[in-house]
Amino acid sequence: MEEAIPRIQQAHRWEMQILRWCMSDAALRTQILRFIDCLPALESPREVVQHLKEYFPLRSGVLPLPLRLGLAATSPRLITAGAVASATRHTVSTMARLFLAGADLKEAFGRIGQLEGQGFQVSVDLLGEATTSQAEAQRYTQRYLEIIREWRSHLSSTPHLSLKLSSLAFPFEPVDPEGAWRQIRPRFSRILQAAFEQGGFVNVDMEQVALRDLTLTLTQRTLDEQFPGESRVGVVIQAYLKDSEEVTRGLIRWVISRKAPVTVRLVRGAYWDSEVIRSRQLGWPCPVYTEKAETDASFDRLTDLLFEHHDHLRIAVATHNLRSIAHAIAKAQELRAPQSHWEAQLLYGMGEAIQWAIHRHRIPVRIYTPVGELIPGMAYLVRRILENSSHNSFLAANLLEHERAAH
Ligand code: FAD
Ligand code: 2OP
Repeated sequence: MEEAIPRIQQAHRWEMQILRWCMSDAALRTQILRFIDCLPALESPREVVQHLKEYFPLRSGVLPLPLRLGLAATSPRLITAGAVASATRHTVSTMARLFLAGADLKEAFGRIGQLEGQGFQVSVDLLGEATTSQAEAQRYTQRYLEIIREWRSHLSSTPHLSLKLSSLAFPFEPVDPEGAWRQIRPRFSRILQAAFEQGGFVNVDMEQVALRDLTLTLTQRTLDEQFPGESRVGVVIQAYLKDSEEVTRGLIRWVISRKAPVTVRLVRGAYWDSEVIRSRQLGWPCPVYTEKAETDASFDRLTDLLFEHHDHLRIAVATHNLRSIAHAIAKAQELRAPQSHWEAQLLYGMGEAIQWAIHRHRIPVRIYTPVGELIPGMAYLVRRILENSSHNSFLAANLLEHERAAH
C-alpha cells in the first residue's frame, strides 16, 4: 500500500546507500554533496569519470561495486565512460526526484493532481533562489505568473505558491534595502495581484538569517502599501534562530495592527549548517542554537505563542517531527483553536507516513511541492540530503529505526 511507505524508503538501493554514507562520515558527506553539486555542469562522460575518480579515489572502496568496476575499466581507454556517466547521472536524478515533483509544469501538475485527489493541499515552489542577474529575476517573475495562469486549467484548486524574494531581485542585499525594494515592489505585487485574482495565496519563504529582516520588511511594506486588508499571504518564522521569539512578537504586533490575519508558517530552519559555518568563518556570534534540543524547545514555545494569538493570525505548523505535531495538536485543543485557524505542512517526498497520519486526524495537510530542473534546484536538494542524513534529524532517526526493524 503506497500510502504507508515513505517515498524515501521506496528509494532504490544506491540512493539509500548514498544517504547512509552521508550519515556515516562527515568528510565523505562533504565529498558526495560537492560531487552532486558539480555533476549537472559536467558536459562529457569523460569529465564525469574524471571527477568521480578525483572525488572518490578507488582505493577508498566507497562507490557501488558496478561503478567501481566501470571506473577501473575506463582507464586508460575510456571504454565504459558513457555507461559509468549515465549510471551516475541516473542515480543522482532518481535521488532528486524523491524531493522534486517535476522538472516542468506538466509533470508537476500531474503529481499535484494526485496529491489533491488523496485529500492533500499543496504549495508550489518554483526552484531557484539567489538570482544572479535582473534578467533572471524577471524570468522568475514571468514563470510564477505562468504557474498562476496555468493552475486552474490543470487543477480544481486555487493557486498556492511559496516563493523566495531572493529569486525576484538582483542584487537582493540588506546593505541596499531601497535598491532591493525598487525591484521587488513591481514584481512581487504583480505576482500577488495575479494570485489574488485567481483566489490564490502566496507564502514568502525564509532564507538565510542575513536576508531575514529585509524579507520581512519588504513583505510587510508591500502589504501595508498595496494590499492592506489582504489575508491570503504567509510569512515564515525559523525556530532555530536565537532571537526568533522577539521577531515573532513583532510580527504578531504588526498583524494585530493591520486588522487582517496573515499566515505564519513555523519551521525549525533549513540553513543550519551554513549559518554555523558562516558565523564561524566571520568570527560573528552564531545566530542559531547549536543544540538540537534548544531548537526543539524553541519550536514548542513559538507554537504556544502563535496559538495564543490564533484569533489574529493563521498558523502553519511545518515540520516532520511527530512530537512537535503532537504538541501543536494538544495546544490547539487546549486553547480551542478552530481547525480553520491552523494547518500542518510537510515537504514533498519527506515523511509520507506522517502526512497520512495527520490527515487521518482530519487536520488539513499542505505539501510544499518544488517544481523545476535540477540545476536551479541543487541548493534545495542539498538541504534535503543534509536533513535526511543528519543524526539530529527526526526523519533520519526514523529511517535508521525502520532499517534496523527490517533486518
Ligand atoms: P527535525 O528533524 O526535528 O529537525 C531538524 C532541524 O533541526 C534542522 O533542519 C535544523 O533546523 C535543526 N537542527 C539540526 N541540528 C541542530 C543542532 N545541532 N542544533 C540546533 N538545531 C539543529 N526552512 C526554512 O528555513 N525556510 C522556509 O521557508 C521553510 N519552509 C518550509 C516549509 C515546509 C512546509 C516545511 C515542512 C519545512 C520548511 N522549511 C523551511 C524546512 C525546515 O526549516 C526544516 O529544515 C525541516 O522541516 C526539518 O525540520 P523538522 O522540524 O521537520 O525535523
Ligand atoms: C527550502 O527551500 C523549504 O524553503 C525551504 O529549503
